[in-house]
Amino acid sequence: SPSDPDLVERARAAKEKLGDKVFILGHHYQRDEVIQFADVTGDSFKLAKDAAARPEAEYIVFCGVHFMAESADILTSDDQKVVLPDLAAGCSMADMATAEQVAECWDVLTEAGVAEQVVPVSYMNSSADIKAFTGKHGGTICTSSNAKRALDWAFEQGEKVLFLPDQHLGRNTAVRDMGMSLDDCVLYNPHKPGGGLTAEELRNAKMILWRGHCSVHGRFSVDSVNDVRARIPGVNVLVHPECKHEVVAAADYVGSTEYIINTLQAAPAGSKWAIGTELNLVQRLANRFAAEDKEVVFLDKTVCFCSTMNRIDLPHLVWALESLAEGNLVNRIEVERETEQFAKLALERMLALP
Ligand code: 13P
Ligand code: SF4
Repeated sequence: SPSDPDLVERARAAKEKLGDKVFILGHHYQRDEVIQFADVTGDSFKLAKDAAARPEAEYIVFCGVHFMAESADILTSDDQKVVLPDLAAGCSMADMATAEQVAECWDVLTEAGVAEQVVPVSYMNSSADIKAFTGKHGGTICTSSNAKRALDWAFEQGEKVLFLPDQHLGRNTAVRDMGMSLDDCVLYNPHKPGGGLTAEELRNAKMILWRGHCSVHGRFSVDSVNDVRARIPGVNVLVHPECKHEVVAAADYVGSTEYIINTLQAAPAGSKWAIGTELNLVQRLANRFAAEDKEVVFLDKTVCFCSTMNRIDLPHLVWALESLAEGNLVNRIEVERETEQFAKLALERMLALP
C-alpha cells in the first residue's frame, strides 16, 4: 500500500533535522515505506559491516530485526546508540536457541567426549548470548553469504562443527558446498534429553545441526518448485539457503538476499525467475526488473511476509526519528558488557574470514 504522505513528510523532516547524527540501515526484507528512508540497504552481513563503518553517527536506526540491531551495537563504539523502531521485531529462528539450551548442549557434548573436537559456528540470526557462547568456545559467526568460508575455517580448527540455530543453512552448506553427505549431519533437538542423540551418533557426526528453522522459508516446498516450472517454462528457480534441503536441491541457484539481487541484476532481458525468499523483497524486485523485461515471480503464493520484519512500519520509524530529533533516546538496543566482549570475538572472526 502507498505510504501516507503526511507520515512521509514527517519522517523526511525528522531525518533532515537529525542530519549526520543519524544513520538508517534497512534490511532487504523491510517494507517499501521504510526502505525509502534507508541510507544503506543490504543483507545481514553487509549491514553489520556498514554499521561498523559509521563512527560519526550518534544514532544508528536499524530497520530490521532484534539480532541485527544487537550485532550493530556490538560492532559500534560505546557512545553510539543503536535504535530498533519496534522492540517486538524479533526473529522466531533466533528464539529457537536460548543460552540455557546451548549451555546444556555443551554439557551433552562434553559427556559424550566430543566437546574438544567441536567448533561452534553460529548463524548471524541468533541472540547476542549465543554469539557470546560461540566466541567463548573458539567459534565464529556466519551469514548466508559466507557460510562456506566459515565452515572451511572451522574445519581447520577442529573435526566437528556445532551449527546454530538454522539446521537448513547448516545442512545446505555442508552438503551443497562442502561435499559432505546427509549422513555426516545429525540433528540436535534441544527439547529432548541428550538432544535426542546417542554418544555414538555424536562421535560419528561431522556436523551437529541445531534443530532451528525459519518459519517463513520453511514453508517453500518441492511442490512449489515443480508447480512454477510447469507454469512458467524456462523459469530459473532462485532460493535462500534457509529453505529446506530438498527445496535447495530442486532449485537452480541458492544465495543470500544480496546474492539474489545481484543475480537478477546480471540476468539477461527476457529471462524468467521464481524467487524463494521474503515477500517484501520479491515484490520490490518484481517491480524493479519488470522495466528491464525480466519476469520475477514469488515461488509460492501461499507463503507470506516475515511478520516480525514487517513490524517496522512507517509509523514506528516516524516515532523513533521524531523522538531522537527531540532529544529522547527511545528503543535503544544495548548488549551487556561481558556478553558483548565474547560476542564481538566471534563476529570479528567472521569479519576476518578470508
Ligand atoms: P540475509 O543474510 O540473506 O540478508 O538473510 C537474513 C535473514 O533473516 C533471512 O531470513
Ligand atoms: Fe527470522 Fe525468518 Fe524473519 Fe529472517 S525471515 S528474520 S530468519 S523469521
